[in-house]
Amino acid sequence: MLPSTASLKQTGGRKLARIVFDEDTIARRVAEMGREITAAYPDGELLVLGLLKGTFIFLSDLVRRLDRPLQVDFLVAASYGAATISSGDVRLLYDPETELRGKHILLVEDIVDTGKTLNRLVTLLRERDPQSLEICALLHKHLAQHLVLEPKFVGFDAPRVFLVGYGLDHAENFRHLPYIASLE
Ligand code: IMP
Ligand code: MG
Repeated sequence: MLPSTASLKQTGGRKLARIVFDEDTIARRVAEMGREITAAYPDGELLVLGLLKGTFIFLSDLVRRLDRPLQVDFLVAASYGAATISSGDVRLLYDPETELRGKHILLVEDIVDTGKTLNRLVTLLRERDPQSLEICALLHKHLAQHLVLEPKFVGFDAPRVFLVGYGLDHAENFRHLPYIASLE
């Protein structure tokens, strides 16, 4: 069942089609991922680095399931070059204040689509000499031709349709939905 209200249905002129991952399914998977990630990391400093804005809900749920000391920071990246075929150029609008050198970095992304954003960020972050760098993605469309680094932790394999909710947007709308839905 789709608990969408009249106002949601009309958001940005787009309508929700169906719920792809409901609240309970997401919560169970995030708890599992928390256990996987907790078990995977040795002692040492762990910095969980969330890519804004899409990860704001996922990241806040995930870190509460990580049973170990950690730090949290964010990255804000903007892609540009949209006039051509996606160029993969990524500009950092906010760069973490925290030193990355010598730390375990877990880069958290909402959804891996073409992989261009991640490829650029991984290259950039590796230059800062972290002790390790891994990717955690809530959703993976498995469309990417070439990933510099495959996500080590993936929430769900995603259908190859446009998804919104639980942080994901369409033209900045729908981020607040507690579930992940497809658009009509
Ligand atoms: P990539 O560089 O093509 O992998 O693009 C990844 C970014 O595009 C994600 O961080 C999302 O912000 C956005 N994106 C890709 N697919 C979707 C989708 O289905 N729904 C919402 N945002 C998406
Ligand atoms: Mg987006």
